[in-house]
Amino acid sequence: MTNYIPLCVPHLFNDEKKLVNQCLKSNWISSSGSLINKFENQIAKYTKSKFATACTSGTAALHLAMKVCDIKKNDEVIVPSLTFIATINSIIYVEANPFFVDCDDYFNIDMVKLIYFLNTNTYKKNGFTYNKITKKRIAAILPVHVWGNAADLRKLHKLCKNKNIKIIEDATEALGTFYKNSFKNKHVGTIGDVGCISFNGNKIITTGGGGMLITNKKNYYKKSQYLSNQSKDDAIMFKHNEIGYNYRLNNIQAALGLGQLKNFKTILKNKKFINNFYFKNLNNNKNIQLVKRPAYATNNNWMNIITIKSNKKIDLKKIINDFEKKRIQIRPVWYPNHLQKPFKKYFRLDLSNTNKLISSSLCLPSSSNLSVNNLSKVCRELNQYFE
Ligand SMILES: Cc1ncc(COP(=O)(O)O)c(C=O)c1O
Repeated sequence: MTNYIPLCVPHLFNDEKKLVNQCLKSNWISSSGSLINKFENQIAKYTKSKFATACTSGTAALHLAMKVCDIKKNDEVIVPSLTFIATINSIIYVEANPFFVDCDDYFNIDMVKLIYFLNTNTYKKNGFTYNKITKKRIAAILPVHVWGNAADLRKLHKLCKNKNIKIIEDATEALGTFYKNSFKNKHVGTIGDVGCISFNGNKIITTGGGGMLITNKKNYYKKSQYLSNQSKDDAIMFKHNEIGYNYRLNNIQAALGLGQLKNFKTILKNKKFINNFYFKNLNNNKNIQLVKRPAYATNNNWMNIITIKSNKKIDLKKIINDFEKKRIQIRPVWYPNHLQKPFKKYFRLDLSNTNKLISSSLCLPSSSNLSVNNLSKVCRELNQYFE
């Protein structure tokens, strides 16, 4: 569609085409090719994690994370309501229960409320921590580094060690985000037990569809490789001692990912430019506020979000349609998970900030290849609309 400004589309360079063509020529196109290991090694090196397992999607990586952390039926996983539904689905896949908590103004899990809850509403039994409200074992906490904003895991990390609670990080949107001094410049996804990255089409780098599980634990890595490859115990005689999954990324996708990594610096630079441009050009508008970035971490600037300041009920659908007519795609933040039909029955704490942010926030065009002309148009239209 010409002149249409989409929300967030892939930015492909020549390297991707070259590498994919080479891959096709080699005839190694399935999940047995050597490029998959190469892609895993490069992601592990970049994120400074010891191990990486390439998967068919971020959702598959999250599911494997649940499995390797041994999250089981009737366990509880504490999770923000404000996230993409795949985060919650991964908990349901292993028949565990989400327990919803609120978010802060960076759209990340609210650490103050969460730590208060952990300190006042849990008890220890047989070496595990239980929720006083639901009486379930709190097996894991699943923070999401939303939009590339790092969730502040500094205090939680220690607390979870004491309480024997696993941390599974949904870093699907946050490749390229590093903590600053507090965590010695560690990449998000490497603080907890396991981290998950997505390479879906809208993500900061893409393999068309794909994901990566990163971990510093060798046994988790080995288990994730095993499970992602149909739990093959004897590849020649087709022996499988466990239920496995067909979750392995294929070689063509890995070629695409390797090409994207070659250009990752440029993409990050473009994303930073776009974020700065929005800040500069929307800063004077009193009716909208660009979501700020936390100071304790760098930011990959994957997505730019505004919150609308108004005392009246905001008709987000109308705004989205009005911008669609201007050929600009803006999108709401996700529908809150605690209100999704399959999840209504699960427990939740006070979610006032989640409800407030969801009813007043919009995602802005943020593609790495967004031109300055189009960026200017988006800002001009936003300033006119919200004047
Ligand atoms: C926060 C979050 N979690 C999980 C996922 C799932 O990743 P994928 O689409 O690669 O399965 C996504 C992206 O789509 C996401 O944004």
